[in-house]
Amino acid sequence: MKLEGKVAIVSGGGAGIGRGISKCLAEEGADVIIADISKDNAQNVADEITALGRKSLAIEADITDSDRVTEVVKEVISKFGKIDILVNNVGSTGEAMGDRTDPTFAGLEEWEWDKTIKRNLKTQFLMCKAVAPYLQKQQSGKIVNVASQAAKRPSARVSAYSTAKTAVLHFTLSLALELAKDNINVNCVCPGLVFTQALYNSTSMRMKSDPRPEIKDMDPRDYFLKFVAPHIPLQREQTPEDIGRAVVFFVSEEARNITGQSLNIDGGMVPG
Ligand SMILES: NC(=O)c1ccc[n+]([C@@H]2O[C@H](COP(=O)([O-])OP(=O)(O)OC[C@H]3O[C@@H](n4cnc5c(N)ncnc54)[C@H](O)[C@@H]3O)[C@@H](O)[C@H]2O)c1
Repeated sequence: MKLEGKVAIVSGGGAGIGRGISKCLAEEGADVIIADISKDNAQNVADEITALGRKSLAIEADITDSDRVTEVVKEVISKFGKIDILVNNVGSTGEAMGDRTDPTFAGLEEWEWDKTIKRNLKTQFLMCKAVAPYLQKQQSGKIVNVASQAAKRPSARVSAYSTAKTAVLHFTLSLALELAKDNINVNCVCPGLVFTQALYNSTSMRMKSDPRPEIKDMDPRDYFLKFVAPHIPLQREQTPEDIGRAVVFFVSEEARNITGQSLNIDGGMVPG
């Protein structure tokens, strides 16, 4: 196992991609702390990790709240003694969170712009700010930020989200340079299309503006498989485990000389 004895925190680890990442880390031997705004989600995944024979802890926390983030990190240090791996996974589009009713730019309100930037970008800053001093003190650590294919290719109707995710790429680069002298690797993963609850929600929303009569009453999952996934160059969806395995690589010793990179795991949607 590649990560035996390592302690990892995954923000938003209670569902979807975060759950996949958490389980992949645990399968490689890491103890994994799940920090999630949903207590039930966090506890369910913590139980799955314990069942794999690893230690885990579910912490209910809103990662946009800086005081709460500080408390989370202190709790992890007091219970586990150290942190080796931080995965900044919290994020989503407004429509995925049910915040929006109109996906156009005209319908994008100031409050939603602020909320999207906060959820996708500020969460990563807050977690890094709280965790980095511990990594610097121990002169080792791995940080992986979750961005998106939307950071690298133009997408209509998600301007706030793609702006935040593009900023994540540059935040990753800056932090990688600044923390390199402390033996800390900072990298980024860019998922393609992973059918999580968030993608179910945004697919449902997009179906409302699809005029084709045959999609009326269609299940969002069926719509996604019939009309969306085939347009991915590899013609298949990505899974939470696809993303989790890339994260495992970045935080393993195999990637010890890789920092400041972003890896597309998107079936070829973003070439290069
Ligand atoms: N699903 C995709 O196709 C896709 C594609 C590209 C990038 N991403 C990115 O991957 C990450 C995970 O996406 P997902 O689809 O798994 O999302 P999801 O909505 O399915 O799951 C997100 C998890 O984060 C938790 N969460 C939400 N807000 C939180 C907060 N403020 N504090 C703590 N926890 C919070 C939720 O409770 C949930 O458990 C996001 O950053 C997203 O932007 C997803």
